[in-house]
Amino acid sequence: MKKILVLTGGGDCPGLNAVIRAIVKRANKEKDVEVYGSIEAYNGVLKSPQEIIRLKNKNVAGIHVKGGTIIGTTTKADPFNFPVQAANGEWSIVDQSDEMIEKLKTQGFDCIISIGGDGSQRISKALSDKGMPVIGVPKTIDNDLACTDFTFGFQTAVQEATNAVDKLVSTAESHHRVMILEVMGRSAGWIALHAAIAGGAEICLIPEIPYDIHKVKKRIESRYKDGRGFVNIVIAEGAKPKDGNITGRKSDEFGYQNLRLGGVAYQLTEQLKQMGCKADIREVVLGHLQRGGSPNAFDRVLATQYGAKAMEMALKGEFGRMVTFKNNEISSVSLAEATVANHNVDPNSFLVQTAKGIGISFGD
Ligand code: F6P
Repeated sequence: MKKILVLTGGGDCPGLNAVIRAIVKRANKEKDVEVYGSIEAYNGVLKSPQEIIRLKNKNVAGIHVKGGTIIGTTTKADPFNFPVQAANGEWSIVDQSDEMIEKLKTQGFDCIISIGGDGSQRISKALSDKGMPVIGVPKTIDNDLACTDFTFGFQTAVQEATNAVDKLVSTAESHHRVMILEVMGRSAGWIALHAAIAGGAEICLIPEIPYDIHKVKKRIESRYKDGRGFVNIVIAEGAKPKDGNITGRKSDEFGYQNLRLGGVAYQLTEQLKQMGCKADIREVVLGHLQRGGSPNAFDRVLATQYGAKAMEMALKGEFGRMVTFKNNEISSVSLAEATVANHNVDPNSFLVQTAKGIGISFGD
């Protein structure tokens, strides 16, 4: 009998349910394999009472089309830095990794399939180094995980961002305005770059290419004649000016370790106005609309392949590895390799050259 524990960690992402469904369906082809889900990442294992549920065919039927995750997720359940509340109500951070591994082994779990982004896969690697069999599945709309061409969820987010550019083009044109669309991506500009090309924006600002505000202003002015013209800008939330900083704030949510990004679109407007830019400017921060809702067909297929592959690796005992999609092939790499660095936009890539070639300015 094999017992597999599945969990989804970090921000939600279109396609999580499709991965879970594929894991369960693939497991059902085997004799003696049981799949369980830990509710809200490692919270389900660590919290008392535990929240671990058996996942059967009936739990996963038809869920591949649904956004979110049927087993919940959280950004605050790192077993190495676990938020624990004392009887007096005070919170502290405690390393509960050894206790958790012990618990899972006692309960007979043979391996964890952790569906998550870079933070989650770093946890997978650390648990694997401590002897827990773990298999990673790369998830994030940001597409910033190494060793894989695409994480699931990215294509759906790009479509959402592109739809937004399409709509903003018409309102920008009607009012002769500059419309700034801020998209997610953390320190990677993938969503911004793809949406700018697909939507036909004039300016695309990404973290990998710090922008010169003078050049951004110049490109805007080149689009106006006698006060008439319009410009669409797509800016990644992690973009920053040359010699400047990213726009973010520390979260006051206990246990939340990331910097909360957001607001760079407003900062860009400020900078342009300070430089004397005369155009009317409006900003749209797309936010979590990029993450919610149903995955598109590409992400459903990718997520289904990832789930089936993860289950096959679990059956073969290929632990300490992350599933990948590279050069159109589903394969895997060691978690060490997968977590050594993030996958960022290469400013010299053909994709960036293509964007520049059709007149998109990066402000560089
Ligand atoms: O990593 C995915 C992501 O959506 C980023 O693009 C974004 O910065 C972040 O998560 C937002 O996280 P939260 O939902 O915790 O605010």
